Amino acid sequence: MNKLVAGNWKMNGSLVSNRALLAAINPVAGVDVLVCVPFPYLAQAQERHPGVALGAQDVSEFRNGAYTGEVSVSMLRDFGCAYVLVGHSERRALFGESDETVGRKAVAALEGGIEPIVCVGETLAQRDAGLVVEVIGAQLEAVLGVLGREGMSRITIAYEPVWAIGTGRSATAAQAGEVHRSIRDWLLGRHVDAGRIRILYGGSMKPQNAPELFATECVGGGLVGGASLVAGDFSAICRAAAPV
Ligand code: PGA
Repeated sequence: MNKLVAGNWKMNGSLVSNRALLAAINPVAGVDVLVCVPFPYLAQAQERHPGVALGAQDVSEFRNGAYTGEVSVSMLRDFGCAYVLVGHSERRALFGESDETVGRKAVAALEGGIEPIVCVGETLAQRDAGLVVEVIGAQLEAVLGVLGREGMSRITIAYEPVWAIGTGRSATAAQAGEVHRSIRDWLLGRHVDAGRIRILYGGSMKPQNAPELFATECVGGGLVGGASLVAGDFSAICRAAAPV
């Protein structure tokens, strides 16, 4: 299975700056390249190179109706989105998204034909307390509860330790590998067919650490924040994900 490298622009960009960035993002043979842009720029990004997939950073759990400010799955589909991030730690921490909300968003995406990239990860305090497996297990359990085993087998998971996001302090390959393996074990323990599930690593991924992370067992790709705003860095990370 190809590795998936997803750029998460977060709340950055402008029509002018996006133009140069999008023009510099190219497909890489043997790698699934994805950019997750802010909602207003989906139309602009839709005109990108056809070999680069488009995604959003959030989606409503509701189908349509009186939900001011929300964006539905079908709207994302209208703009060619193939993926959507759900439960990014910034959504959880800053906008109060619970494990249950994340589960409902994942199910809305999947039922609407868009692959959810479900983000999970522990805070530093949780890691220090030895709670990594418990915290991630609870985050995944809420998603499994609404998706069921079959649905769960059709998602992407992103492991993003909160302490590594935007801090310049990436998890080591050994730390990432340990958690990715434990996620696989967790899925196995719940009888979820994990054969098609890619588990991305995210958190201060850079051209310098990407090759080692991608070479780590069970790491199926990357979710890239800051470095995805620098065309040369994002391209280098995408190239590092190519099969050897
Ligand atoms: P970062 O962000 O690469 O800037 O650490 C990753 C993310 O939040 O998805």
